[in-house]
Amino acid sequence: MIVDKVTDLIGNTPMLRVPVPHRETRLLLKMEKMNPGGSTKDRMAHSMVLAAIKAGRLAPGGVVVESSSGNTGIGLAIAAVEFGLRFIAVVDHHAAPDKIAVMRALGAEIRFVEGNYREDEVAVVERQRMAARIAAEIPGAVFMNQSDNTANAGGYSAFVREAIEQAEGRIDAYVGCVGTGGSMTGIGHGLKAHHADTVIVAVEPDGSIVFGGPGHPYYQSGTGTPEGDTVGLVLDYGCIDLGLRVTDSEAFETARHFARRTGLLVGGSTGGTLYKALELVAEGRIAGNVLISVADGGEKYLQTIFNDAWMEAKGLRDPAIAERLDDWLGRRAAESPRAALPRLAVA
Ligand SMILES: Cc1ncc(COP(=O)(O)O)c(C=O)c1O
Repeated sequence: MIVDKVTDLIGNTPMLRVPVPHRETRLLLKMEKMNPGGSTKDRMAHSMVLAAIKAGRLAPGGVVVESSSGNTGIGLAIAAVEFGLRFIAVVDHHAAPDKIAVMRALGAEIRFVEGNYREDEVAVVERQRMAARIAAEIPGAVFMNQSDNTANAGGYSAFVREAIEQAEGRIDAYVGCVGTGGSMTGIGHGLKAHHADTVIVAVEPDGSIVFGGPGHPYYQSGTGTPEGDTVGLVLDYGCIDLGLRVTDSEAFETARHFARRTGLLVGGSTGGTLYKALELVAEGRIAGNVLISVADGGEKYLQTIFNDAWMEAKGLRDPAIAERLDDWLGRRAAESPRAALPRLAVA
């Protein structure tokens, strides 16, 4: 298929089945990293810009302002090019430098939040405040405010349609991360509208306060709500059956192990959902068609998650996690002593 705009490349992402040793279960990974901006957020960014244009709040030549850890900003930068908009992204030191570089390359203006923050502390509250202030200072500028924007959740309706079709009509469980809650709400409600029994599992970083506090700093990027921030209005808890926490070590070691085991580079938030999904499958708590969104790719975290020195320095290495994952995914033939090649008898 030939398309005429980069935004026409958003969606219709493929699905990868990862083998698990449970005959009744298919672990289905929707490859959202294959969107043009490299993440699922391309969908909601385009949806929010379209909604603002339709509502008459934005017109060509207008200005979009948003606080973003990176992926929403990349999606907005792409949408801004399509509609001839100026885009100002407010970021903090927590955002992966490569994500900021991508936004810049796409023509976004980058503003850093001021203030001294610990390296593992997310300055999301200040980021929001600064984005609102910048938007208020520029005539006609629109603060997208993804956490409270209904077009965020609304951006995932095509994801739901595609996933159900790819899974031949049935998703039994969805395990996803929760940051603003836009993807969780859009996907959770969409799947339940199709099949009310679909089990919806939300995974937040250990230290995030989506399912209650107190919180503490964490390294997982883009996902969770840090202490001091308030959970976005876009998150509807009513679509969630089970809320879980995953540690940075579990999330990152899973991303690292998955890369070597399957050849697929996933980001840290996806590592966390994969870890929890595999745990739930192993415990027999979910089964059937289990859907996971590969929210973004590991290519964006080569300097952190996939950097041995960084993982060591932060005390995040834990070899026991890889062992556990191999138990849950099934030992590969080469690892099984019984499958080892018989020694040749020497005459
Ligand atoms: C990599 C990644 N995972 C998860 C999320 C959380 O998604 P949501 O904001 O829809 O809850 C984000 C959001 O920015 C993200 O960039």
